[in-house]
Parts: sequence; structure tokens; C-alpha cells
Amino acid sequence: MSSFLEQMAQQRHAAINSTPVWARLHQHQRATRHVHMRELFEQDSQRFHRYSLELDGLLLDYSKNRITDRTLELLLELADAANLGQWLQWMRDGERINVSEQRAVLHTALRQPAGSRVLLDGVNVVDQVQDVLAACSRFAEAVRGGDWRGHDGQPVRDVVNIGIGGSDLGPLMVHEALRPYCQPGLNVHFVSNVDGQHLAQTLEQCQPATTLFIVASKSFTTPETLLNAHAARRWLVAAAGDAAVARHFVAISSNRPAVQAFGIDAANMFGFWGWVGGRYSVWSAIGLPVMLAIGPEQFRQFLAGGAAMDEHFFRAPFARNMPVLLALLGIWYNTFYGAHTHAIMPYDHGLRRLPAHLQQLDMESNGKRVGRCGERLDFDTGPVIWGEEGVNSQHAFFQLLHQGTRLVPCDFILPLNSHYPQGDQHRVLVANCLAQTEALMRGKSEAEVLRELAHLPGDELDMLLPQKLFPGNQPSNTLALDRLTPYTLGMLLALYEHKVFVQGVIWGVNSFDQWGVEYGKQLAAQLLAEMDGKASAAHDASTSGLMRHFQERFHG
Ligand code: F6P
Repeated sequence: MSSFLEQMAQQRHAAINSTPVWARLHQHQRATRHVHMRELFEQDSQRFHRYSLELDGLLLDYSKNRITDRTLELLLELADAANLGQWLQWMRDGERINVSEQRAVLHTALRQPAGSRVLLDGVNVVDQVQDVLAACSRFAEAVRGGDWRGHDGQPVRDVVNIGIGGSDLGPLMVHEALRPYCQPGLNVHFVSNVDGQHLAQTLEQCQPATTLFIVASKSFTTPETLLNAHAARRWLVAAAGDAAVARHFVAISSNRPAVQAFGIDAANMFGFWGWVGGRYSVWSAIGLPVMLAIGPEQFRQFLAGGAAMDEHFFRAPFARNMPVLLALLGIWYNTFYGAHTHAIMPYDHGLRRLPAHLQQLDMESNGKRVGRCGERLDFDTGPVIWGEEGVNSQHAFFQLLHQGTRLVPCDFILPLNSHYPQGDQHRVLVANCLAQTEALMRGKSEAEVLRELAHLPGDELDMLLPQKLFPGNQPSNTLALDRLTPYTLGMLLALYEHKVFVQGVIWGVNSFDQWGVEYGKQLAAQLLAEMDGKASAAHDASTSGLMRHFQERFHG
């Protein structure tokens, strides 16, 4: 047995919640939970400087958290108790840390520059990565430059990426975020939902002769993607005949036989590997729609930003390590305060799909109730991730954050310079973002409210006073980017990937499988077979009733 497997098996018998530091953290939480962050700021004029760090145009301010030096000390001890340093090394060494699927986890190799070495079973995977990157770059240049032509000789004007989950959310979000870098006249669309309106409404904007489809599926077996791909193929063939498929369809997959069976030439397939998880795949050929839009040069900047964060993650001491700190703070609230959610608030319209991407990244990775060796965990793991762009979110759900009953830790993400300044609007946006973090932290005290309402008669004052109080003490991190560029976006995404990994290590879960998605898929296939009269099965009364209701009302 490899030393990795032996050591991992030993950890099964050393559950993290039975370590002394786990108990000490609970005690510490009980002893400090009434301390208000306002007092912590009053006591320490250097709090911002001590609890913030910067890397290449990305600032993390974590001073508005319910922490002291002692909290951080204990959380860092927890990281040590979970053997975090060793796990980082195992990841880098290509150990099969995705144990339930027996796979290495090497998405960081996708961001390494040519000439680097990342060995898996004695093979340098960076060489394979660079070969695919070069093939994607040649293809992207050909499409962007008008050299790749459709069946009747016209250049591509619309690109439709058909994929779902990790084969959609990452590239979709990055494409939206980097719109200022996109080539005008080349429109990139993303179709994911098996609901026919998604494809139909997209195709309404396209012409068969000038549309290129990318079928993006690591497995090339995902029903939603294949149904959409076949429908797109029918749309093309109806207008241009079978022979057009070769010029209008390419694939991104690790399943060559299935791609060929679909009718896509293997020469037009861009591959990736089992050691790239779907939700970590935007850096691979799955990023092709992004590369088509922003060009290979800018795509390399995106990779370079990710690599800079990897370097920081693997080398910086944990006490000054952005992903580790974000992960520990998340654990502090999730595990020791019992907070169930974590909100992501990008103050940037381009980043509006970031919460959705991070939802998959975090919830598919750490939404687990058993440990990596199959043991039942008796503490909470991954939180519910949600969020919305600011300032829209302020006019929707911030009421609950300010005056509701729940603890909701938030991340505010703020580009300091805009690609679209529009007069004073960017400063207004920034002022709103900072104001929210301040209000959530400070709250508004009784004395402050009394000063505002001093003119009111007594009974009205009694009624209004409690309604105008803001308890504050709601924690937040602020991530400020000098500007949203391919490079800083790469850093930001890699930061969250590593945060999720660190939390998974500490909770003892395998962050790289997703068995929980399978059961619903199986039942859907079963129900479909029943609708077709090809199978029958017993269901609960609700599901049977709904099936009958559907079949009575469905008109085809
Ligand atoms: O939702 C489950 C999942 O397996 C994701 O992890 C993955 O990103 C998505 O489906 C799509 O898978 P594929 O790229 O194989 O079509």
C-alpha cells in the first residue's frame, strides 16, 4: 500500500471532531460569541493592516470577522490537526486523493506554464496539457481570424457551447466576466438546460451557415447535453445537410469513442483527462468558448492568474495564505457558530454568474455527509452557497442580513476600477459595497437611533426604536481586485477552488466526487422509461399521482 493510502486510512481513526483543538474552538466560541466587532475595531487601530493581505492586485480584507489572534491561532492548529500541509503535498504529487474514484486531482497542472513538470505515474502531464492548449489556440485563431469556415464558406459569427454543470457554469461565468475582452462580431452562447426553450431561443439568434457548436461533456454521456446536441445537429442538417456537421460541430471530451459515435471527427475533438474534475475544468479545453471570445493570449493570462494563486497557496505560510484563511474563517462560522449559509456578493455586473459557479464548486465538492473513508460524519459540512450581484441584492434580501435572526457570513467582491465607468456610477457602486460591509459589521446602536429619533413623542419612539436598531456583528470578507482582468479573475477562481479543498481536508470529505447527483439521474431515466411504456415501477403516492396528472394533461 502507498504511504498515502496507509496514512489516509489512519486518519479514519482520528476524526477531526475528537481532537482537543476542536473542543477548544467550541469553548473559545462560547467565550467570545458576545464580543462585538465594533469593540475589536475600537481596541485595535491596526486591525485592517493586521487582518488583510494582498497578492498581485487582489486584496483580501478579513478584518470584519468575529475573530481575534487567539481564534486564528486555534483555527491554524485545527488545520495542522487535519494534516493540511501533507494534503497539499499529496495533491501536488499526483496522489489519487479522489479516493472513491481512484483519481489524482491535478487541475493546477492546467495552469502551469510550458516547461513545468507535474508527474502522474511518471508522465509529465504538463506536456499533454500544453499540446491541447496549443491545439485549442490554433483552432481559436482560425475561427477568430475567419480562416475556419462553415459549409458554404462563410466565417463563424455565433458559437454555441452545449454543456451542463462544470461544462457550462465555469466558461459561462468567465465569458460574462471578461466581456470587455471579447472579440466584437463573434457571439458566444451557452445552452445547458434540457428544457427545449433554452436551445430554441438561442438558435433564434443564429444562422446555420455561420454557427459553430461546441459539444462540451467530459463523459459525453450526460443526457441533457446529448439531447441538446442532437437537436442542434437536426437544426443544422435540416438547413445544410449531413456533410455540414464536420464544419459546424466540435467536441470537448475525454470520451473519444462517444464523440466519434455522435459523428464528430476525432480531429475536431479537444481532450481532457480523468484527473480534471468537471467543476475544476474551465482551465482545460472546456475553456475553449472563452478562448474563442477573448483569444489565446488573454486566455493564457487567465491561466497565469490561476498559477499565481497556486504558487501562493502551495508556498505561503498558512497564517498568511489567502485560501487557507478564507477556508478557516468559513469553518469558524459553519462549524462552530452553526451558520448554515455563505453568501457571495459580487459588486460587478460581469461577475453576476459567479455565485452560480461557486455554488457548484462548493456544494458539489463539500456537500457530503460521510468522510472520505466512508465513515458517517456527525458535524455539519459544506454550507449553502448563494448570492447575487450588488447593488441589486441590497434591494432584495439585505433586509434579512441587517435585521433578521440569522448569522450569514458574506464575501464582497469588488473591482476597484471599471471597464465601463459611466460618469460617477462606479464610485457610487464602490460606496454602496463598502457601506454594506460597514453597516453589517457596526450595526446601529440604541444611542445612535435615539439621537435620530429624539424629536418623536414617547409612544411613537417606543414603537420605532427597536425597528430602527441594527445589531451588526455580521461578518464579511472583502476581496478587492484592482480591475477585473483575465489575470485577476484567474486568481479569484483559483482562490475559491483552494478554499473549498482546504475545507474538505479539514472536514475529512472527498471534495472531488459527486455521488449525490447520480440517484436523481437514475430515477429520471426510470420515470422516462415508464412514460414510454417500457417499464413499470412502484412509486410513492405523490410521485404516482403527479405522473398520472402529467400523462392526462400532456399534449405532446
Ligand atoms: O452534475 C454532475 C456532473 O457530473 C458534474 O460534476 C459535471 O460537471 C456535469 O455533471 C457535466 O458532466 P459532463 O461534462 O460529463 O457532461
